[in-house]
Amino acid sequence: MLKKSVEKALNEQINAELFSAYLYLSMQAYFEGVNLPGCANWMRNQALEEFTHADKFFRFIIERGGRVALQAIDAPETKWDGPQAVFVASAEHEAKVTARINGLVDLAMKEKDHATLNFLQWFVGEQVEEEAAVDQIVQKLKLVKGEGSGLFMIDQELAKRTFTPPAAAAE
Ligand code: FEO
Repeated sequence: MLKKSVEKALNEQINAELFSAYLYLSMQAYFEGVNLPGCANWMRNQALEEFTHADKFFRFIIERGGRVALQAIDAPETKWDGPQAVFVASAEHEAKVTARINGLVDLAMKEKDHATLNFLQWFVGEQVEEEAAVDQIVQKLKLVKGEGSGLFMIDQELAKRTFTPPAAAAE
């Protein structure tokens, strides 16, 4: 059975993950509007991935006999000052998510909740990957100063990203 403090924090994380999905959909909408379909595709796939993160927390709470209580999702930003600014905002957002995951790990340790601690390890690794992936894009955009044929090539590269839903076997 989940302790109330852990249940509350896990519910807050569902909200944070859904907000992440919402933010990335907003970034997709931005890129659709400035005719960068590859960047839009990258953001859409990111949003879909965030939804699966929310779903992992959702199912974990249920599995542990807890109660899911969904909260309102804040409105995301809708405007940015160019493609580089969007990816910098994305990197800053992921750093905040990492801090949240670390906070959850601290709480699980404090409460001696080993099952939650074990569950969170996947997210600790995932955040390393997410931060590295977005940082790589920021660095490339900086190289081309976020414009011209360099931006066109980055857009083409980001068009290749696909989303693979978690396999049923891994659920
Ligand atoms: Fe669910 Fe981007 O962290």
